[in-house]
Amino acid sequence: MKGLILGIVGLFLLLSEPAFSGDIKAGEARYAQNCGNCHGPGGMGLASYPKIKGKEISYLVDRLNTYRAGTKIGPNSDLMIMMAQPLSDVEIANLAAYLNAQK
Ligand code: HEC
Repeated sequence: MKGLILGIVGLFLLLSEPAFSGDIKAGEARYAQNCGNCHGPGGMGLASYPKIKGKEISYLVDRLNTYRAGTKIGPNSDLMIMMAQPLSDVEIANLAAYLNAQK
């Protein structure tokens, strides 16, 4: 029974993999909608807004999920919580792929 459950979970992970590897082009388009107003072109950072380009995908996804859940990280999280709340899982994956690809 345990083996069967593990098998099913494994198969599910395998099948759902493409949904989690973000689309850089789509991420760029989503980023252009409003993220750049604060984080600057390509996520390079602007004034007191953090640089977010070139970071690990897992780090970016984790941060965006945390903000989306309404959890504070730094002193200005309220701004970011507002920005992350409308994001879908796919948008987060795309944004992370795009930002990770900016060097
Ligand atoms: C109104 C300004 C503003 C906008 C627009 C904005 N952000 Fe942010 N973002 C911030 C601030 C301020 C922080 C730091 C918040 C804190 O103190 O926790 C932040 C933090 C982040 C972080 C975590 C950085 C780190 O290393 O901890 C990521 C990732 C991020 N933003 C991505 C995005 C994305 C993607 C968008 C577009 C959907 C976006 N932001 C739109 C202001 C903004």
